[in-house]
Amino acid sequence: MRVGVIGLAGVGRIHINKWLEIAELVSVCDLDSTVLAQVAKSCQINGYRNVEQMLDKEDLQAISICTPPKSHLSITQQVADRGIHVLCEKPMASTVSDCQAMIDICSRQSVVLQIGHKKRFLPAIQRLKEISEGDFGPIQYIVHRYPHPGTSNRDWFWAEDDGGGPILENAVHAADILGFLMGDVTRVYAEGGNLLADRRSQIDCAVYTLRFASGAIGMVNAGMVSTSQFNFEDYYVATSAGVAEVKGKFDSADTIRYSFRSHPDQVEEKSFPNFDSFRAEIEHFVDCIETGAIPLADGHSGMKAVAICRAVKQSSATGMPIEL
Ligand SMILES: NC(=O)c1ccc[n+]([C@@H]2O[C@H](COP(=O)([O-])OP(=O)(O)OC[C@H]3O[C@@H](n4cnc5c(N)ncnc54)[C@H](O)[C@@H]3O)[C@@H](O)[C@H]2O)c1
Repeated sequence: MRVGVIGLAGVGRIHINKWLEIAELVSVCDLDSTVLAQVAKSCQINGYRNVEQMLDKEDLQAISICTPPKSHLSITQQVADRGIHVLCEKPMASTVSDCQAMIDICSRQSVVLQIGHKKRFLPAIQRLKEISEGDFGPIQYIVHRYPHPGTSNRDWFWAEDDGGGPILENAVHAADILGFLMGDVTRVYAEGGNLLADRRSQIDCAVYTLRFASGAIGMVNAGMVSTSQFNFEDYYVATSAGVAEVKGKFDSADTIRYSFRSHPDQVEEKSFPNFDSFRAEIEHFVDCIETGAIPLADGHSGMKAVAICRAVKQSSATGMPIEL
């Protein structure tokens, strides 16, 4: 499979390394000529500063879009219009309407659209999903702590019409995993503020509650509130049959413990250290292209996660619960 990567400064480098292991990476693209020259030289492949130029010159079957969210729609349009499959980094886009347009374009062109919600592939999360679909029963209650360590100096990250700040740009992972585990969200209520970062125009942290279509409830703590010495995330869940906990390092929770109410002293525990979720998502993307399967993290789920994050920001700004 002939592949290209667009956006090379940050997460694009990870995509490049994974693609080099899995397929034929033939070209890369970045607006920044310094970044572009470095990457094209080290990989010994063609580099372009302009997406259209790359698409005109190269014969590609799949592309990773690793640019800031505001550009995801226009790049997806250019790529999908040429029949090229799209793996687009999260958040899917800055707005729900951009997400819908991306879904429509990719569906019209019959190309795969997968969103970079790599945490869906984590084995501990997969195990939780699996037991919740079996004897353990559906999750009725969840508390998820997702405290981002450090901050970002990228202007696009904080821009309302682009990254949307930590609640969208980063904590979209939390919204996505809760949707993955528990289904559609119907109501969001949030308290948030610009309490820790020196970016007065943007909230940097929030606590929020979710009501799910199933009737279940959830609470999320998110934002740029942590440091490298407090690098963790966790999920505490309850069902009518038992309780479970998934926890580990930020963005890579690798351990699950659970017990059934009928045998509360018997705790099952399993760890899955060093799992490569980027590689897993890229292998899954290739599989979807080859088999026609629908991606585990498809456009519809990517759009729902953006909608939740936008509702969190709106609820925090208005003091009102938001119905989705
Ligand atoms: N899945 C993950 O864990 C993860 C981790 C980090 C970032 N991301 C996501 O990846 C995206 C990029 O984040 P980053 O931290 O790598 O950003 P970054 O700012 O480090 O790099 C983005 C690069 O894209 C280039 N670029 C911007 N617009 C372009 C365009 N129109 N054409 C070509 N190049 C363009 C920039 O020049 C820059 O080099 C964001 O959506 C972010 O949320 C995902």
